Amino acid sequence: MTLDQTLPAATADDTIAQPAGAFDVERVLASLSLEEKASLLSGLDFWHTQPVERDGATVVPSVMVTDGPHGLRKQDESADHLGLGNSVPATCFPTAAALGSSWDTDLLRRVGEALGRETRANDVAVLLGPGVNIKRSPLCGRNFEYFSEDPVVAGDLATALVDGIQSLGVGTSLKHFAANNQEADRMRVSADVDERTLREIYLPAFERVVTRAQPWTVMCSYNKVNGVYASQHDWLLTTVLRDEWGFEGLVVSDWGAVRDRVAGVAAGLDLEMPSSGGRTDAEVVAAVRAGALDEALVDAAARRVLQLVARSLPALGAPGSFDVEAHHALAREAAAAGTVLLRNDPVDGPAGPAPLLPLRAPADVAVLGELARTPRYQGAGSSQVNPTRLDDALTALRAAAGADVPFAAGYTLDEGPDDDRSPEALVAEAVETARGAGTVLLFLGLPAAYESEGYDREHLDLPADQVALLRAVAAANPRVVVVLAGGSAISVSPWQDAAPALLTGWLGGQAGGSAVVDVLTGAVTPSGKLTETLPLRLEDTPAFGNFPGELGHVRYGEGVLVGYRWYDARRAEVAYPFGHGLSYTTFAYGDLVTRPGRDGDSVEVRFSVTNTGTRLGQEVAQIYVGDPVATVLRPPRELKAFAKVDLHPGESTTVALTLSRRDLSYFHPGLGRWVLEGGQFVIEVGASSRDLRLAAHVDVVGEDLTPPLTEWSTLEEWAEHPVGGPLLRGALEASGLPMAGAVFDPEFYPVIAGMPLLKVASFAGVKPEDLEALTEKARS
Ligand code: BGC
Repeated sequence: MTLDQTLPAATADDTIAQPAGAFDVERVLASLSLEEKASLLSGLDFWHTQPVERDGATVVPSVMVTDGPHGLRKQDESADHLGLGNSVPATCFPTAAALGSSWDTDLLRRVGEALGRETRANDVAVLLGPGVNIKRSPLCGRNFEYFSEDPVVAGDLATALVDGIQSLGVGTSLKHFAANNQEADRMRVSADVDERTLREIYLPAFERVVTRAQPWTVMCSYNKVNGVYASQHDWLLTTVLRDEWGFEGLVVSDWGAVRDRVAGVAAGLDLEMPSSGGRTDAEVVAAVRAGALDEALVDAAARRVLQLVARSLPALGAPGSFDVEAHHALAREAAAAGTVLLRNDPVDGPAGPAPLLPLRAPADVAVLGELARTPRYQGAGSSQVNPTRLDDALTALRAAAGADVPFAAGYTLDEGPDDDRSPEALVAEAVETARGAGTVLLFLGLPAAYESEGYDREHLDLPADQVALLRAVAAANPRVVVVLAGGSAISVSPWQDAAPALLTGWLGGQAGGSAVVDVLTGAVTPSGKLTETLPLRLEDTPAFGNFPGELGHVRYGEGVLVGYRWYDARRAEVAYPFGHGLSYTTFAYGDLVTRPGRDGDSVEVRFSVTNTGTRLGQEVAQIYVGDPVATVLRPPRELKAFAKVDLHPGESTTVALTLSRRDLSYFHPGLGRWVLEGGQFVIEVGASSRDLRLAAHVDVVGEDLTPPLTEWSTLEEWAEHPVGGPLLRGALEASGLPMAGAVFDPEFYPVIAGMPLLKVASFAGVKPEDLEALTEKARS
């Protein structure tokens, strides 16, 4: 591999399966013995599929798969899946938490192409990512690897990434399917989730990527879903994934997720990773021989492994190379795009009150905080990349300012340089450094040990020494900009009164340090927006009390009220809402037009966005749908679409899109399908979920879900039924029964309205045959 040349653009031939003749899947499959087919269904080692060799010739070559998701982690000798062994240098792009905050599908596609190029240049067939699990709780230790608390953002961004990667002729692995929303007990816990919640919250991001981008592989999760291990979950792996969504690729286990291999094959788990040392291959063979497993199922799984090999071969035959500098520059662009400016309040200064950012005088700053020198730019575990370069904010800022701006560490980090001084001495030095500086740039964030694959966080707080540093520094110089690093929500409300400017670069990858400086100096206008709510307190979060579960079960008790859906439903205050992010310019929204689409089911939405400020900037316009009257509880608003627009000062653009039937529907668990219940919907357009600028009501015809009347329908259901109501009233009046008049008495009616008519009728003395006749009439 040569690092410094660019790879020729992928041709159509690179991305399609090898033509018949070169590696004919069906011919190869037909030639394999049962033992050989079974051997294909598990790995050779940690990272390779098993080859089939016969008489010294290779019948089926082995291919390599490797992590993923925001950079290639191709381990050299010491293979493990814990991120411990060394891996080849690769560009560490921003983590999904940062990429997600860009809301930029075009950018994600370009990052995907770069990832694909590096994967291909390293002779790897499949990059193990992206992860589209929903951020159910900010405590999940692996949230940095996931995009959002919302399935539409997660699904759309991951679709773009998968498209980009696969355009280079290499594959992806969409993971972790499904309901893997915590690290605690992840290999055993049962995620107990009702079907509506699965369908509306936890599955749609997977569904979007599968139906729109056809990832080469999907990786099942470790956990159980409603009591059944995902690795042998027939409903998930076959009914939903293949039969309903039309998935054409291969299902691979998460590393070590297999429990019962034979049950897994039957359920649709094609490939077990890593190697089982041949043990489970033998179990598969024995099960077929004993008549417990249909050989056709082994054939189906082996065929998918062969198809994966076949589609990998063209790129493996032409690996190419990649441009390290260009990829670093892209990583920097992406990290800047994902940086979220949370706050930029005016602060008194010589020329009157003004926001601190962008920096007017980058040389007149004090840089504080060890994280400015020792960046945290990725998370621990299987996604850990060995970066080709690493930028820190301090060096980047000095370069941008053209001056040796002063620095003080203020606190220590385990991963930073040794410093024997006491915490008090470090704070004192920082306070002295801050005093008199035009602006203080204070870098705070979560130390590496606070979040990782493998375990969850215990709280949302910054370390106490960092908060103490902020307080001491702000007392000496209130012109403080806090720059946060961390892979998930951090509680800011205890201290943000001391930070008039606040931004987060998340875990921004190897160029995160220079990217955040681009935003501070205004070289880049911030355009990132939160894809997860920043709550006031852990106790306010949706899964609190139900996370991470107990006694082997985690109950998804909050149902569909995840993320902003929860805070909005409860009208709860938050620190910063979903979708929030400031810019150095301003945007106005207007001209909202909504009208039912031609098919009667969809809604066409059109509005304008204008850059009303003085800088070139990008705005993420968000479209939310609410269905205030429905048979089931619906969140007040749900994101259904978004558009990132690029506008010069004074420039205006029109965003036009169509909300589909599905965008307006909910999943009806009783009917087992998506239902568009007719009525009035609210379409809101905004700069965040709580900065809604435009709203319109649209009447949609939809379905009438009124169930047919029976004797067991309640009195109220009868009374409100267009046919049954008048019939019932007439029948009661005509009956002459002493109690008939009381039924609709305004005081009495509310007490009995919820009773089945059968019971009301029997108390009132109605004869069963009369009720039967009435019911018949009402239904005819
Ligand atoms: C992780 C996966 C990863 C795999 C291989 C597992 O522990 O959950 O995301 O792709 O290891 O490293």
